[in-house]
Amino acid sequence: MLNKIGLIGGGNIGGVLAQEIVTRRLARTVALVDVKPPDLAKGKLLDIAEGTPVIGTDCEFVGGKEFDVLQDADIVINTAGVPRSVRPDGTYPTREELLGINLKITDSVSDGIRTYCPNAIVISIANPLDAIVYTLHKNLGIPKNRLIGMAGVLDSARYRYFIAEAAGVSVDNVEAMVLGGHGDEMVPVRSCCRVAGMPVEKFVSEDELAAIETRTRKAGGEVVGLMGTGSAFVSPAWSAIEMAEAILFDRKKILPCCVLLEGEYGIDNLFVGVPVVLGRDGIERIIEVDLDDDEKAALAKSVESVSKTCSEVDAMKAKS
Ligand code: LAC
Repeated sequence: MLNKIGLIGGGNIGGVLAQEIVTRRLARTVALVDVKPPDLAKGKLLDIAEGTPVIGTDCEFVGGKEFDVLQDADIVINTAGVPRSVRPDGTYPTREELLGINLKITDSVSDGIRTYCPNAIVISIANPLDAIVYTLHKNLGIPKNRLIGMAGVLDSARYRYFIAEAAGVSVDNVEAMVLGGHGDEMVPVRSCCRVAGMPVEKFVSEDELAAIETRTRKAGGEVVGLMGTGSAFVSPAWSAIEMAEAILFDRKKILPCCVLLEGEYGIDNLFVGVPVVLGRDGIERIIEVDLDDDEKAALAKSVESVSKTCSEVDAMKAKS
């Protein structure tokens, strides 16, 4: 436990991350940076620090508005960006519509990582997920095993929760994977979905499965629409913590993550959600799932929309 975890962004996800790191005793030092005045990051950490005697945990806290708090962090989790939120007319934006504003924020995040913790393993949560990870890759050029997007763990958790509810069984019994981009075209892979090792079709009807898969694809938006302000934050934070734990404890855990593909699945030079083995080196192996024809077609469609958003990144960067 002699490690330091750095958090970028002191919003709702950053707050839950800091809290979970402390309660699970995952790091000796937690660092949090956020530009928001007077000093949001310092305030959030002070709140947690003052509670540590109550839960009996010792931890060092470094918060501030400047990236230097991240000095020598071993793992960095990036949440910096504007979340989706309901507009006055009741509609809400797609994740992709956040690109313009969040791209600029990602450029300053990249400078901070490059300057203070260039050797860290970076887990990114900010949206539009796949395009922001692609931007970090362009800006940082760090080895691909050290740059990972968190989306698949969350999307798969949502799929698992809905299946468990429909089947009337524990969430522990449901294994599932959602692949592709973190947009409304994401791909819940039914052929990988098992209930206590048995095919999901034994427990949930065809019609219900189709409805669950549609709901899974739009699950982030469902939460945005219900909450009125901001987007989901507890489940995304827990999902990133699961990834960080797999790395910290070298668990070699297979989790769907957004990673750079260089030929796998016939995809080149794009960050897309696929199952990987996570261990002390970050991404230690990419696993190619045998997909059926419909799943392959769905993945191709999802990748097409990731590719479109990444082209927008390239175009915006070319202009700036
Ligand atoms: C969601 C956001 C965090 O899916 O992308 O809820």
